[in-house]
Amino acid sequence: MQTINCDTKIILCSYRQLEEKDKKLVDAAKKAATSAYAPYSHFSVGAAVTCGNGETMTGNNQENASYPCGMCAERVALFAASAQKPGMKIEAIAIAAHDGNGYTKEPVTPCGSCRQVLAEYEARQQTPIRIIMYGEDKIYMTQSAAALLPLSFSLPR
Ligand code: THU
Repeated sequence: MQTINCDTKIILCSYRQLEEKDKKLVDAAKKAATSAYAPYSHFSVGAAVTCGNGETMTGNNQENASYPCGMCAERVALFAASAQKPGMKIEAIAIAAHDGNGYTKEPVTPCGSCRQVLAEYEARQQTPIRIIMYGEDKIYMTQSAAALLPLSFSLPR
């Protein structure tokens, strides 16, 4: 029997310590959160992705009275980017959320389904997607989507 170690490196930092381009991406995610449609959870999430051409595209959570029909901010942003700029590489994604009282103090970490989608886009483009998870008190960063979802699903080839 063997053990496989899945090593996940998460960088912990503050907004002040981010590079200028990442500060801008976080700012875009925070702004996107303010346009979320979240009348049921009152938890407004924003996501911003930088494409290979330096363009930023955003998304936010879209809820529905039929709850499972809703969609997370991350996938709204990723699907919009992939639909509108097919084949364009995604360099990074920033995520932020507002709970009605203010932006969350803790970083917002993507759900499992969003991690799966991130992992596949990353594998498809063959370059890492950095993930910046914003919280007012601290920020988590990973250098790749795979780090957040070891053994993600892919169809056998
Ligand atoms: N949500 C996101 O948009 N992204 C996440 O990473 C976690 C959760 C949304 C889904 C739902 O609209 C609301 O937040 C509460 O779960």
